[in-house]
This record gives sequence, C-alpha cells and structure tokens, in this order.
Amino acid sequence: MRIAIVGTGYVGLVSGACFAEMGAMVTCVDIDSSKIDSLKNGIIPIYEPGLKELVDRNVSAGRLEFTTSLENCINDVEAVFCAVGTPPDDDGGADLSAVKSVAHTFGKCITRFNVLVTKSTVPVGTANIVRDIVSEELALRGADIDFEIASNPEFLKEGAAIKDFMSPDRVVIGVEGERSRMVMERLYRPFLLSNFRVIFMDIPSAEMTKYAANAMLATRISFINDIANLCELTGADVNMVRKGIGTDARIGSKFLYPGCGYGGSCFPKDVKALMRTGEQFGYRMRVIEAVEAVNESQKAIVGTKLKKALGSLKGKKIGVWGLAFKPETDDMRLAPSLTLIEMLLKEGATVSVYDPVAMNECRRRIGNAVHYASDMYDAAVDADAVALMTEWKAFRIPSWSAIKKVMKGNVVIDGRNIYTASEVNSEGLQYHCIGKP
Ligand SMILES: NC(=O)c1ccc[n+]([C@@H]2O[C@H](COP(=O)([O-])OP(=O)(O)OC[C@H]3O[C@@H](n4cnc5c(N)ncnc54)[C@H](O)[C@@H]3O)[C@@H](O)[C@H]2O)c1
Repeated sequence: MRIAIVGTGYVGLVSGACFAEMGAMVTCVDIDSSKIDSLKNGIIPIYEPGLKELVDRNVSAGRLEFTTSLENCINDVEAVFCAVGTPPDDDGGADLSAVKSVAHTFGKCITRFNVLVTKSTVPVGTANIVRDIVSEELALRGADIDFEIASNPEFLKEGAAIKDFMSPDRVVIGVEGERSRMVMERLYRPFLLSNFRVIFMDIPSAEMTKYAANAMLATRISFINDIANLCELTGADVNMVRKGIGTDARIGSKFLYPGCGYGGSCFPKDVKALMRTGEQFGYRMRVIEAVEAVNESQKAIVGTKLKKALGSLKGKKIGVWGLAFKPETDDMRLAPSLTLIEMLLKEGATVSVYDPVAMNECRRRIGNAVHYASDMYDAAVDADAVALMTEWKAFRIPSWSAIKKVMKGNVVIDGRNIYTASEVNSEGLQYHCIGKP
C-alpha cells in the first residue's frame, strides 16, 4: 500500500516512519526544501527519541522517501495524509492556509480515486471546506474524478511519539464513505491485530474529538494549578491532595501535576481554537476560558516567586534549568521558559540557561539575549537564584552541595515540583515550589 504524508514535522515524520515500519510505502512531502534535503542526507530536523533509527531503517528498506513535490507522487498513492501545521491565526482560530493549499494541490492533480485524510488538528467543519476546495479544483479542469475526505486526528505526544503511534490508546477515524473506510482499515489493520482500538465515526465528531481531548487534558492541568495556588495560601500541600484525589478511580492520577503551566504546540492553540469555534457558533466555552486564564497566570508563577524571594530582579543573575516545553523534546513553542526569560530580561536580570536538547532551538528563537551554559551546574555559577522549568530526568538528582558552592545566592525555585524541601534545604539553600505553603 502506498501513501503520501504532507507536512514532515513532529506528526508527519513520525506517522510516515511508523506506517513505513508497518510495511506501507510512504512518501513524505514538505514545502520546506531544506528540511527535505536534510532528511535525504539522513539528518533528522527535530529531536524525538528513536526517530533517527526508525527513519534510517525504513529509508534503507526502500519504504520511506522524501520529496518537495506532492504533484509528482499523488497518483501513485491510495491516500494523501495532510499533517501540515495549523498555527493560531490573528483571532485565535486555527490558520488553515496550509491545509487548504494541500486540498488545492489534491484537486488540481488527482487523476483517479484518492482519499484526502486530515491528520492535522482542525476545527469541526474543516472537512467541508477541504471537500469544497477539491470539488472546485476538479470542476475548474472539467475532471469527473471520485474522491473521499477522511479525518484521522493524531494523539501522539512529543517525546514519546513513536511509542504512542505504534501502541496508541485508540485511533480515531472519521469517514464519509465505504471506500475511504476500506483504505483506512487496511492501513490501520496492524494496529487492530494488536488489539488497539480503532474507532470509526462521522467526520465532525472525529474533528471535535481531538479538541475535546486536548481541552480535557489542559483542564486537568489548570484545575490542579488552581488547587495548588489555593493550597499555598491555606497551608495545604498540593502533592498530598494530588495523591488523595488521584487514587479515586473516577479521577485517576494522570495529568494532575502542578507546575508552571502548559505550553507547546498543541494545548495553547487548541484551547484557543475551541473557544473560537464556540464563538462562531454563538456559544461561550466558559470552562475553557477559565482553563486558559489560569494557565496564563501560571506561566508567570516562577517569575513572580523569584521576584518575591529576591526583592527586585534588577541586576540579579538567574540560572534557568530546562527550556523545552516538556522533557524529551526540543520543541519550545509557547514554552513557560520563554515567558520566564522574557520577564527576567525585562526586569533587568541576566539569565544563564541550560537544556539537554533545546539549546539550538533557544538560540534560534532568542539569540544572544541569554548566556548558554554547558550544564545545569554551569548555569548556576554566580547565580542569585536558579529556576527549574522542564523536568528532564538529568535534572532530578543534582548535587546540591556542588550547586551551593557555585551559586552567589541561595534561592531555588522548582517550577515542576520534582525536588523535596529537605534535600534542598540541607545544603543551606532556600526551596520554593508550587502549591506548598
Ligand atoms: N506536535 C504534536 O505533538 C502534535 C500532536 C498531535 C497533533 N498535532 C497537530 O498536527 C499538525 C502538525 O503539527 P506538527 O507539530 O507536526 O507541526 P510542524 O510545524 O512540526 O510541521 C508541519 C510541517 O508542515 C510543513 N508544511 C506547511 N505547509 C505545507 C504545505 N503547504 N505543503 C507541505 N508541507 C507544508 C512545514 O514545513 C512543516 O515541516 C498540527 O495541526 C498540530 O496541531 C501535533
């Protein structure tokens, strides 16, 4: 079975490599020619554990190839997956220009039945827009060619993307006809064999499922952060409360970690886009509005704690541990670390940063506005305070005595609640975390 995947980013490249691993012949397409050149030369443009080995293996086996031209491969494939970016537009909705551009190419180029599958996260109703574009393009060239639209939202997590794709909790597929259903069934059959659930539904429900899932997860994060902030004021310990509620099977313990807010390429934009869809349909998403408002203030919480502990930030040196929006990725899109760094620089502090994989990404984004340290200890040299922003494994058991020795001050802010007060205090350092008095 041959397929094309358009958009060779976190989702497209992982999906392409994983489908190839299952035996499909996959052509990955991207308009970014430098990305395609890198991939052709065996260089993976993003950091994702295990991805290089997977890509190399499938390229060598002849099942995975890269091109900038969808036109050239579209009539060799049975389905075209659209996995291009859908960043926020000016009013908070999803910018669908890349999705629409793929639909135009599809309509202009197909010469026989084909299925256009949207894997990008797109607002409910997008499939209708995509279908109309394809139909218009076919009409323009007087072509009477059958096609079907499908929706196959992706639920992988950066940092565990390959495992998530290969062993998903579920695969959601929205279809409008039997032919696309058969194509999708064939492609996902290996996952059915492993007893993973493939859930077929109508297209609007599939489109909505992705937003509902991300909004639910974001809600849990903002919920526990709200509780954490109240714990700080009232003398309760959010870590205890989290355990206390997480053991209730109806609640569960996942995604209930207090911290410095959610970031990344999905939750912030998808929460906004869901509110925008509500607005367009005359419905106010009040829970989601609150989720976003709590997160916005939570992203500033480490900066606020630093200010409180140090008095003023002017002239102070702050070491920042972790830049990526979460561990095991180099993705810094809307990372809480960026909110903190911006605030520190604005208040006149100097900043020294360290992240195990996102240093180049940080340089690309903010250049020399900060000092780039060689490790977490180097970032602490002469620092008045250090702040943990991403809970990388390598940060979990530091030598506090070595940190105390190199620091000028003694303030430690734990933005992800991974340390304990006793271990940090034992070296004469002052410990602050989220949700404890
Ligand atoms: N990153 C995640 O963890 C994740 C998880 C689930 C769903 N999603 C969704 O998947 C989609 C893609 O996300 P991503 O993180 O992979 O994005 P990304 O920015 O990493 O990759 C998108 C790619 O699409 C390419 N592109 C843009 N326009 C194009 C066009 N017209 N033709 C060909 N290529 C084009 C870009 O050059 C880029 O390489 C988004 O809708 C996102 O919301 C992302």
